Amino acid sequence: MSDEMMRQIRQRLESLRRAGIERIPSPPPQRVIERSVRTDLAEPPAIAGPPIPRPSPVAPTSPAPVMLSTPLFGEPDIGGTEVPAEHRPDLLAALASEVAECSRCPMLVASRSRTVFGEGSPTARLMFIGEAPGAEEDRTGRPFVGKAGILLTDMITKGMGLAREDVFIANVVKSRPPENRNPTPEEIANCLPYLERQIAIIRPQFLCVLGKIAASTLLQTALPMNRLRGKWHSYGGIPTIVTWHPAYVLRTPSAKKETWEDLQMLMKRMGLKVPEKRPG
Ligand code: URA
Repeated sequence: MSDEMMRQIRQRLESLRRAGIERIPSPPPQRVIERSVRTDLAEPPAIAGPPIPRPSPVAPTSPAPVMLSTPLFGEPDIGGTEVPAEHRPDLLAALASEVAECSRCPMLVASRSRTVFGEGSPTARLMFIGEAPGAEEDRTGRPFVGKAGILLTDMITKGMGLAREDVFIANVVKSRPPENRNPTPEEIANCLPYLERQIAIIRPQFLCVLGKIAASTLLQTALPMNRLRGKWHSYGGIPTIVTWHPAYVLRTPSAKKETWEDLQMLMKRMGLKVPEKRPG
């Protein structure tokens, strides 16, 4: 192994440690490796380690689930093959069933009413990624429908001039943590492969990451929010911005202006018309 590779591994392990991840779950779900989209298998690919929940049975002609590996260092590989648009709804539905049956985090299984997979267009150009469902999301099974969700919806519709149904909204963690506490590093590591697969299926052109937990998870960094927002990042080659979580904006009105600046930066790159005045 070259010195450069050793250096990168050390750097990656250090950033995981700073993010609070002391050990990689053994065997980690993301070690289930199938880099490309399988359209030819009726059975899921061979898996090392204990069985993971299987998706609901799908018709033999349906595409099999997209599975990814998370590299130890560098950007995640979201696979070279774009999933044809007509296969995406079935793949997302199969993945949602897998998520609904997931029991990797016993504490979350005990406290959740249901999982919150995410919702929106399977061909969305833009995907928003939050942290974890709250009470209202747990009650309804839909992401961002509580107070923070109303603000996010306003940002999308009044701010960006898009319809909520045209974007995709997901969370890093798909089950509500008890008392709305932050998800633990282990819960995040357990759930992240599902988000990676959502991103790989939808392959949006842009990601908007909401808040510190989602940003540190996706960008593998311990940098504070004020060093992450206001600039472009890349996640698996997808241009990505980080902005304040809407729940934080509700608590900190001064963050509204910066959030609007971040959205304007995103809108310009997406080729959307930016209104002269900040809406609302
Ligand atoms: N906060 C999040 O991060 N996600 C939701 O779905 C709701 C609130």
